[in-house]
Amino acid sequence: MASLTTTLGDYAFQNVFMNASGVHCQTEAELDQLAASPAGTLVTKTGTLEARAGNPEPRFAQLALGTINSMGLPNLGIDYYIAYAERFQEKHPGRPIFLSVAGMKPDDFPLLAQKIQDSGFTGLTEFNLSCPNVPGKPQIAYDFDTTEAILAAIFKVFKKPAGVKLPPYFDLAQFDQVAAILNRYPLTLINSINSLGNGLWIDPATDTTAIKPKGGFGGIGGQYAKPIALANVRAFRQRLRGDISIIGTGGVTTGRDAYELILCGANLVSLGSILATEGLGAFTRLSSELESEMAKKGYTSLAEFRGQLKTL
Ligand code: DOR
Repeated sequence: MASLTTTLGDYAFQNVFMNASGVHCQTEAELDQLAASPAGTLVTKTGTLEARAGNPEPRFAQLALGTINSMGLPNLGIDYYIAYAERFQEKHPGRPIFLSVAGMKPDDFPLLAQKIQDSGFTGLTEFNLSCPNVPGKPQIAYDFDTTEAILAAIFKVFKKPAGVKLPPYFDLAQFDQVAAILNRYPLTLINSINSLGNGLWIDPATDTTAIKPKGGFGGIGGQYAKPIALANVRAFRQRLRGDISIIGTGGVTTGRDAYELILCGANLVSLGSILATEGLGAFTRLSSELESEMAKKGYTSLAEFRGQLKTL
């Protein structure tokens, strides 16, 4: 019988699947439902220093092969998510979870880091450097100098396990440059990839965009993202220090997709679009599909094939 247990740094998880931040994780009720699902862990909605209402609706749409979103970081504020995580720890000892946070400007990042550092939270923190949807704000991790400055500021105050959520990169020279920066900091993980930023979908019946914010531009997820996600996880696994683990995110709609992200080096696999469209049942379906795929290949544990992609 195939086991889906996994590890990331010093942390162990009973199942390799988790939600992607943003999906089913904004409120305590949603987070509790994730906790009661077969997911191995969960991450909170990216929290900012102050609560945010996000962008005008409609801001999410299901497309033929995935989703488009321009949520604009609606969230209840970092204090809400820290308080949730502290309560969660008491209720579920030995079940580590993730906080996701983002600054509205670079100077917010060390302030967020300090708040988490000063809290009782003992899990892992994902600093989101890749939200594509706040009008007027760039995806930070496409600016390598700012990324480095933010990491330097975070790690001056932050001593807990930390990672960064990255946007997709498309040039091998970018992977070299970004990995060189990341390898200079005491990161525990990266999460790769966020949505494919600023895609556009047009309704053929009305010649109109699918979503309202930013004139219709939004982050693309689902099957559209799969080859890009595989490439990003693979490229970073080849370049990052061995002690930096990877959460693989992007394009998972079948157990085979998850298997391939693990082949590329993922320690955990997070579900975005498929969780948004299929609901929590996706964890059960994908777990059983991944187990079948492993059985077909003769594997009983993820460690046997993690990172073992074959090339010609
Ligand atoms: O696609 C995304 N949507 N990625 C993020 O990092 C944030 C989210 C949003 O709230 O817009």
